[in-house]
Amino acid sequence: MKKYLYSDETLFRNGDLFEIDYVPEEFNHRESQLKDIAFSLQPALHGRRPLNIALRGLPGTGKTTAVRRIFAEVEETTRRLVPVYVNCQTENTKYGIFAKMYSALNGQQAPPTGTPVRTLIEKVGRIMSERGTVLSVCLDDANYLLFNKTLNGVLFSILRLHQDFPNARAGVILPMSAMDIQLPQELDSGVLSVLQLKEIFFPPYTEEEIAGILKERIRKGLYPNVISDVLFDIIVKQTMRSGDLRVGLDLVKQSALLAERAGRMAIQEDDVLAAYEISKYVQLSASVKALTSPERSLLYMIADMAVETESYLSTGAVFEAATENMKMSYTSFYDKLRKFDQMRLVELSHLAMNGRTREIALRWEPEKVKEVCG
Ligand SMILES: Nc1ncnc2c1ncn2[C@@H]1O[C@H](COP(=O)(O)OP(=O)(O)OP(=O)(O)O)[C@@H](O)[C@H]1O
Ligand SMILES: [Mg+2]
Repeated sequence: MKKYLYSDETLFRNGDLFEIDYVPEEFNHRESQLKDIAFSLQPALHGRRPLNIALRGLPGTGKTTAVRRIFAEVEETTRRLVPVYVNCQTENTKYGIFAKMYSALNGQQAPPTGTPVRTLIEKVGRIMSERGTVLSVCLDDANYLLFNKTLNGVLFSILRLHQDFPNARAGVILPMSAMDIQLPQELDSGVLSVLQLKEIFFPPYTEEEIAGILKERIRKGLYPNVISDVLFDIIVKQTMRSGDLRVGLDLVKQSALLAERAGRMAIQEDDVLAAYEISKYVQLSASVKALTSPERSLLYMIADMAVETESYLSTGAVFEAATENMKMSYTSFYDKLRKFDQMRLVELSHLAMNGRTREIALRWEPEKVKEVCG
């Protein structure tokens, strides 16, 4: 053991394995979902349109990882089908999404912003039509496109490409962790009739599965004996408590960093407990990172108001305070609140007396939210 510490002074064999965007080599317990996704893409290998699918399941259940793995396999095996991965938390305009499609097809940056979307769609459609290339567009966390009412229009444009461009065939993959979203209520009937969405469900991992996944990651990512069995059990329990595998992965990383910093060769219980105070906010930090700067300012302001009050905040009071500093219509304000609600940053609830007024409650400690947003 000593030789490792002396050689590079680290407990990590490979620290990348604990990064948030790492795509694991071992991806167990999702065999049937991988097969279902592959099945939906198979028509494309014969030049036909892929089936449209929704991947539903709570955060950290492997939806994004499953898509990334299948897309990697597609890229290795065929040029006929071109996968396009879009993170809708950051890319939420029709232009941005078609720009991704354009660069996936062309291997080039899309034309500069300012080019009309129609021109961009035409370019995409023409290339697909000429080459007979089929697209599979993954709109990851597609529910983010509901707040600015983009989803309907984006799906309409993608799924009807073939009408203007013969042989331009595309299918969509819609991973979503918001379990309460009902697409039939959110989309127009014209879109729904072409979409014919099939759902693939990602159930939460059991405690045993979580333990297996974490053990494998630790085996590859840390040097031997850095975590004792007793501490490993605590990490598994904390992960189950948070309900998100990411918390567990981050907990391993933060604990090892703390031990490393203290110059120890193994993690102690204190490290795990201190690390949990950081790791339990991994979801909060990731959500806040995905916000635009006006959204972040609004969330900061809500947290600031929440520090002052013991009870719920009313949407009216928050809107009034927000418009003192920011220019915002009520609709745009309310879209932002819905987005926060979906991201599980706040909880919106109706007041019993009046169906229209709503109350806002932060789901995280206000001081912590201010710190992360600030
Ligand atoms: N079966 C598995 N084996 C190994 N690692 C996994 C497995 N499932 C998920 N992970 C890991 O857990 C983390 C979260 O997985 P992923 O991003 O795929 O979840 P998700 O369902 O897309 O979550 P969200 O809805 O929040 O986007 C990733 O870092 C991934 O490496
Ligand atoms: Mg995901």
